[in-house]
Amino acid sequence: MKTIVEVKNLVKNFTVGNGFFTALKSVNLEFEKGEFVGLVGPSGSGKTTLLNIIGTLDIPSEGEVVVLSKSVGKLNPKQAAQLRKEELGFIFQNYNLLPVYTVFENVEFPMLLLNMSADERKERVMETLKWLGLTDKVKSRPAQLSGGECQRVAIARAMVKRPSLVLADEPTANLDSDNSHNILQTMAKLNKELETTFIFATHDEKVIGYLKRIIRLQDGKVVEDNKLTPNP
Ligand SMILES: Nc1ncnc2c1ncn2[C@@H]1O[C@H](COP(=O)(O)OP(=O)(O)O)[C@@H](O)[C@H]1O
Ligand SMILES: [Mg+2]
Repeated sequence: MKTIVEVKNLVKNFTVGNGFFTALKSVNLEFEKGEFVGLVGPSGSGKTTLLNIIGTLDIPSEGEVVVLSKSVGKLNPKQAAQLRKEELGFIFQNYNLLPVYTVFENVEFPMLLLNMSADERKERVMETLKWLGLTDKVKSRPAQLSGGECQRVAIARAMVKRPSLVLADEPTANLDSDNSHNILQTMAKLNKELETTFIFATHDEKVIGYLKRIIRLQDGKVVEDNKLTPNP
């Protein structure tokens, strides 16, 4: 199996007042291509901090994080942006859709940064919206959609580039039970069919049943790392 993320002796300190707070305390992990894995643990345990460093949105204080053979602490902002736009997809708790854009435009947006023709972009957007059951919402704007539909649009936006790695921070936190299951089934399907690697941060018990691996964090440390067979 191909290793896609390596976290080696990772420490993250945040400056607080005159001192600092250590949010991650010597974390060691490896993630392989095709994993469907959750970082779970109580609020404040360091899930978002770890996800942000893997996503090149923050840098290690000590140790090293290697994403797709690149050491994130050594990338300059331009190189980090390049890695994000070409290889990574992000899904957030509150969807982060652009309100004045249509569903089509929101999903097309990440591809405007890549060198693709308008026809190619349209084909990709429509194919991705089809996977997510959103073809009848192409012209809608986020305010006209339910929370579950907004999160499906956000997944489409993350998937449209066919990224190697999707990072999802509490993707079901704003959804009711039915929509959460629907979103998780969709992501599990994309993971299986496209072999896209998903790393979630979550404390939602509903998510846990779908995961192939659970990494439990507590006070900035890994206290459990468990590979499992997901529910059918
Ligand atoms: N920018 C920051 N400055 C200071 N402390 C921070 C910052 N970001 C996160 N923290 C602290 O680091 C700890 C872990 O935060 P976070 O990774 O967001 O946890 P989780 O996502 O598991 O809820 C928390 O105690 C939080 O207050
Ligand atoms: Mg968090």
